[in-house]
Amino acid sequence: MSSARFRVVQPARRLRGELRVPGDKSITHRGLLLGAIGSGDSRVRRPGLGADTQATAGVVAALGISHAVHGDELVVRGRGFSGLREPSDVLSCDNSGTTLRLVSGILAGRPFHSFVTGDASLRRRPMGRVVEPLRAMGAQIHARADGTRAPMAFAPASLHGARLRSPVASAQVKSAVLLAALQADGPTSLEQPAPSRDHTERLLRAQGATVTFDDGTVSCTPNGPLAPLDLDIPGDFSSAAFWIAAAVVHPDAEITVRDVGLNPGRTGLLDVLRAMGADVRVEVERHEPEPVGTIMARSSTLKAADAGGDLVPRLIDEAPLVALLAAHADGESRLRDAAELAAKESNRLRTTAAALAALGVEVDEQPDGFVTAGGQRAGGGRADAAGDHRIAMLAAAAALSGSGPVTIDGADSAAVSYPGFWDDLALLSE
Ligand code: S3P
Repeated sequence: MSSARFRVVQPARRLRGELRVPGDKSITHRGLLLGAIGSGDSRVRRPGLGADTQATAGVVAALGISHAVHGDELVVRGRGFSGLREPSDVLSCDNSGTTLRLVSGILAGRPFHSFVTGDASLRRRPMGRVVEPLRAMGAQIHARADGTRAPMAFAPASLHGARLRSPVASAQVKSAVLLAALQADGPTSLEQPAPSRDHTERLLRAQGATVTFDDGTVSCTPNGPLAPLDLDIPGDFSSAAFWIAAAVVHPDAEITVRDVGLNPGRTGLLDVLRAMGADVRVEVERHEPEPVGTIMARSSTLKAADAGGDLVPRLIDEAPLVALLAAHADGESRLRDAAELAAKESNRLRTTAAALAALGVEVDEQPDGFVTAGGQRAGGGRADAAGDHRIAMLAAAAALSGSGPVTIDGADSAAVSYPGFWDDLALLSE
């Protein structure tokens, strides 16, 4: 992990290279948690071991499940739900919302007490979205701020199947409900307003669970023990996205990212890039259990875009990059229906606009997105990552095609999802 509090990024004369990015963060979290509740040794190759997934590894260990890394393989010694033990201390999820929300679905149905918390950012984030559906299944949960914020406490409970509806299109909420559903006494279904990433569903099916999706509703009928996983984790599309965006907005760039996850629930940014006329080519090489392939991105002339609706959950982690792409486009672009950005590691509506404004790029923050005028390029300056990994990397991507050096405060936060980010930046920049 980088320990630098700040980094200075120089504009790059050229961006060239071919790389693999760290293993997918979302799938690695699931490899650990689903491996822990599977019966037997799960093998997870090329896990992404950033600070967030290390938090999940710590939680799994505190629940009595051992795991070990041998070379590029992670082995999780699962013993089924009943192999989990009451943790002797509060479980800390650090900065990771995925850890806290997914583990809530597991703890909700266990016959022991447990307590979960996280860092200051995570303790500010909304948890009512998981507490409410889990309580509707019979979970006994107490949480700060009238059941909406961590720390949270789980008491022993027996869960029953339920028909649920969530107002947010969130893969974390959906996953928490599915993990609780596996412990319930009958079928559970959850309706969400738009599709979101389906890594949990794919992996649970690979473990033999009955999980179906129909007309916006995911359903799960508990059917016995889960098989262990045998999984190759692709590179993280959300990490690759910084290089793709950096390349298309740079005047002399060609970057190839190999072995990247292309789950359609994650690749909304590619749809936006296509609509903007970007020179980005994608080759899909494998399909199961997750689509994986190569992405080639080159310097591009970009048209303005108007993005919103069902596309938003498919680019939720890449939305800050949409503002950067828009600044380099021809005309005014808009991102709508993305109020969820306010509930991320930072309020990304605000921190995206602030980080780019610090570099002289004007982004007009809206309650549900951004409006960005085209024809803007970053100057030199000093941007604050606001403790948010994706804002640190956004500022770096902007700086590469800027006109002067950019100092990024809190640059070390990149290690939450992408520990080698600054080394890869140095390799790609000439
Ligand atoms: C994630 C789901 C998304 C995403 C987050 C990872 C996951 O969150 O923003 O980075 O792994 O399930 P929401 O479920 O809150 O949309």
